[in-house]
Amino acid sequence: MNTSEFKFQTSDKKVENLSVTWQTPSNIALVKYWGKSEPQIPKNASISFTLNNCHTTTKIEFTKSQSMPQAEFELFFEGKKKDDFKPKIAKFFKRVQEYCPYVLDYKMTISSENSFPHSSGIASSASGMSAIAMCLMSLEKELNSNLTDEYINKKASFLARLGSGSASRSIEGPLVVWGNHPEIENSSDLLGVKFPYKIHPIFENYQDTILLVDKGEKQVSSTVGHNLMHNHPYAESRFIQANENLKKLSEILQNGDIKAFINLVESEALTLHAMMLTSNPYFILMKPNTLEIINKIWEYREENNSNICFTLDAGANVHVLYPDSEKEDINEFIKSKLADFCQKNQYICDSVGFGAKPL
Ligand code: PMV
Repeated sequence: MNTSEFKFQTSDKKVENLSVTWQTPSNIALVKYWGKSEPQIPKNASISFTLNNCHTTTKIEFTKSQSMPQAEFELFFEGKKKDDFKPKIAKFFKRVQEYCPYVLDYKMTISSENSFPHSSGIASSASGMSAIAMCLMSLEKELNSNLTDEYINKKASFLARLGSGSASRSIEGPLVVWGNHPEIENSSDLLGVKFPYKIHPIFENYQDTILLVDKGEKQVSSTVGHNLMHNHPYAESRFIQANENLKKLSEILQNGDIKAFINLVESEALTLHAMMLTSNPYFILMKPNTLEIINKIWEYREENNSNICFTLDAGANVHVLYPDSEKEDINEFIKSKLADFCQKNQYICDSVGFGAKPL
């Protein structure tokens, strides 16, 4: 594994103060990452759709200071000081200081907000960590004007991964692979790469409506869940299956076999949750309404010869996936038949997006 290309070398400029703002998206995995080894190396390759409307906006104000033994920062979330998020970010800065030693030379004020409702059960770590990574890369670009955009995206994904594995897939779009895989050119365990082959038009502007079944805090964090894959009786076969599924999905994304897409994506979602059910200690993140929705989706698909399908994150919310061409009918179905199973009837209409944006 060669991480040396990500070590900051030299600066050709002095920077006293800088304020940068990035908007970076969340993503939804189609082939799931569940299980890792140190330092944030995935046990199998994964692929996700980058989202468009679910994103984090983060501003970092850097002020030059004497070099400090550890990164110093203040954190504001949606306008309020948020000290309970600080340990995770402090850990992130500690991990990246080897590659970005300049984090010790600046005091940072981080102000962040999400486009999706707070504690909606939508993972904000992917968008949150990728936004901080892009802000760091903006400072690095000021310090070293020779950096190319390609290098900036690569290193941002590399850094984001050290904060949260799935965050490595939130720099670019519309489809990003993370994890070394023989069929995906240039794929790497260290960072996410844009899916390198031509995507069939049926998967363009793919829709994702996120049904907010349970907005509470998860009882089991993804960190704990990943760790339970060590000594898991089905872990090894799961990692093999995921890599095989990614090979199949790569072909499907190119040839447009949407029935095969539906089958693979739903199987991945249920397998992820099957890993949770068969961990020890075991746990269940789905709620009764998650299953109600899945059954309604299956019924609707059967009756209408529709291409609707679902996937799940590490939580109870359901991501309803469908082609843009079926949007009108499926939106009507969601509104009339699925919204009742959501907390306060809430859901978020999203679609595939293209990654990080400077503001
Ligand atoms: O990036 P983490 O550590 O929050 O793990 C994410 C795991 C899943 O969302 C369940 C799957 C994935 O590939 O995004």
